[in-house]
Amino acid sequence: MLVDRLGRPLRDLRISVTDRCNLRCTYCMPAEVFGPDYAFLPRNELLSFEEIERMARIFVGLGVQKLRITGGEPTLRRDLPELIGLLSRIGGVQDIAMTTNGLLLPRLAPDLKAAGLGRVTVSIDSLDPETFGRMNGLGTHPQKVLDGIEAALQAGLGVKINTVVQRGVNDEHLRELWLALRELAPVRFIEFMDVGNHNGWNMESVLPSREVLARLSNSGTGAEFEPVRADYRGEVAARYHDAQGHEVGLISSVTAPFCGDCTRARLSAVGVLYTCLFAGQGTDLRAPLRSGATDAELQALVQSVWAARQDRYSEERGEVTRESKVEMSHIGG
Ligand code: GTP
Ligand code: 5AD
Ligand code: SF4
Ligand code: SF4
Repeated sequence: MLVDRLGRPLRDLRISVTDRCNLRCTYCMPAEVFGPDYAFLPRNELLSFEEIERMARIFVGLGVQKLRITGGEPTLRRDLPELIGLLSRIGGVQDIAMTTNGLLLPRLAPDLKAAGLGRVTVSIDSLDPETFGRMNGLGTHPQKVLDGIEAALQAGLGVKINTVVQRGVNDEHLRELWLALRELAPVRFIEFMDVGNHNGWNMESVLPSREVLARLSNSGTGAEFEPVRADYRGEVAARYHDAQGHEVGLISSVTAPFCGDCTRARLSAVGVLYTCLFAGQGTDLRAPLRSGATDAELQALVQSVWAARQDRYSEERGEVTRESKVEMSHIGG
């Protein structure tokens, strides 16, 4: 079995299909940086669906079982259901998921489901229109996301909800969000992370997950939440049930890093392979792909990159400083 230098197998491939987004979340693509003049990738730079399918097949040959489509906002990629169809026909893939802001799901959910998508993770940071509008940078109303969640459920897709928590920004509204959304799907609260180079991260704006749990509970202690056993090795969220059996997940990349079990590779929209969310640089797979490399050659390249991997950024945070990190909009979290 292929493992990296820290003994971790390659199990998940996160595939970014576009660097564009129809929101401007302050912690991801702040409007001051990603403004009207921002140069997004031209279409011919992006991997084609055939190229993505070929790379995915090669990764599956090396042990990948789970594919996740990301962006930017993946639903902005034209004809996305076609890609899902191609990926769902690769033998050996157990799970195809997508991380999305949900805005276009009312239009796309049925086609995505029909093409073979299994589930979506929808991001929403607050149900308070003022707070959500400020965080998404464009004043977009939370109802638009709720409509997307509803459409996904209607279409029969599995749904999880992601909420990024920033102290002093949306931490006053967490319980309200939890009470409303726990009826719909498992909600996961993500500690604000220092991804990319533009989001003004500092430790003071991180609300540690144990405080999140305390704020969700009616007692204010978090005591009624029962831990749930992990579904699989490398699961990112620590999961709990409340007294009624609703599921909450805590993604604690800052206060409880999970690098030891990290089995994820990330492929950017232009075909660069990153072995960590916080990577400084990656490995270009598009050049060999477009200059006639065989499947065996591409496989050997990926294999050598994974075998050399020793990333554990979240565990080293504070000890290392990194000049420049890959942008969230290039690898989709
Ligand atoms: P499931 O398959 O449903 O468990 O999804 P997932 O948790 O793998 O995917 P999702 O995109 O919903 O991940 C939730 C968030 O956790 C991501 O968007 C990131 O913000 C964070 N995350 C995921 N993988 C990693 C990782 O490898 N390292 C760090 N530091 N954060 C991660
Ligand atoms: N810190 C934590 N989570 C983030 N996400 C985007 N940027 C950050 C950040 N700086 C989340 C998104 C989405 C997922 C892809 O990652 O909200 O849920
Ligand atoms: Fe877009 Fe998601 Fe980034 Fe927000 S977090 S700007 S929705 S890619
Ligand atoms: Fe994996 Fe890097 Fe995240 Fe650690 S910081 S869990 S190595 S992606």
